Amino acid sequence: MKYTASLVKLNIDERIATLRKDALERGIPVADEETLNFLLLTLAATKPKRILEIGTAVGLSAAAMLKACPSAQVTTIELEEERYLEAKKNFVELGVSDRVNAYLGDAGEILSMMNGQFDFVFLDGPKAQYEKYLFDIKRLLTNGGVLFADDVLLYGWVSGVEPTPPKRHSIVEKIRSYLDVVTSDRDFITSVLDVGDGVALSVYWKN
Ligand SMILES: C[S@@+](CC[C@H](N)C(=O)[O-])C[C@H]1O[C@@H](n2cnc3c(N)ncnc32)[C@H](O)[C@@H]1O
Repeated sequence: MKYTASLVKLNIDERIATLRKDALERGIPVADEETLNFLLLTLAATKPKRILEIGTAVGLSAAAMLKACPSAQVTTIELEEERYLEAKKNFVELGVSDRVNAYLGDAGEILSMMNGQFDFVFLDGPKAQYEKYLFDIKRLLTNGGVLFADDVLLYGWVSGVEPTPPKRHSIVEKIRSYLDVVTSDRDFITSVLDVGDGVALSVYWKN
């Protein structure tokens, strides 16, 4: 384990921690502890009211974000029906369902039809689509809004610290392209951080 990850003492609702452990044991992808801790830190610093999440899985990051931001609403999108239904059940059990708008479907399609403004976006869906989603995310973000994109270093393959397995070259190139586009976009201030599996933290900052 990375030294920085070993220092994380994640402080989340006990019921979310239990559901998270259960999801991990069943092979459901959930944000790792270092990332989740940093996500909660970012939320504590920015206090968003309207959060958009791409990639609900079974709703654990959404529930953790809602617990961390008691007056926020989360809109979250998931492609797989089974996960979406489990997330809906978890939102009810965790007492946050009245603050969640959960969509079932392809994030690309749903984002293109969405209106309104969000002050925080947690981008945690299909990594190969991050760049494609950027146009709509930018349209949906308030000035000063935060874009938190997870898994952008992908096991060290993206930075080249670890060799990319032959079948993963395409996704690695797509993530590199996302990082190039978002760091070059003058409407964003971005730092790419070696937190968890890599986080690109951007602020939409149009003067
Ligand atoms: C890393 S997981 C999300 C984990 C969740 N944010 C958490 O930390 O608890 C990514 C999710 O994105 C979903 N996904 C994949 N392709 C998608 C798409 N095109 N549209 C919406 N969701 C998608 C996957 O089914 C998966 O559940």
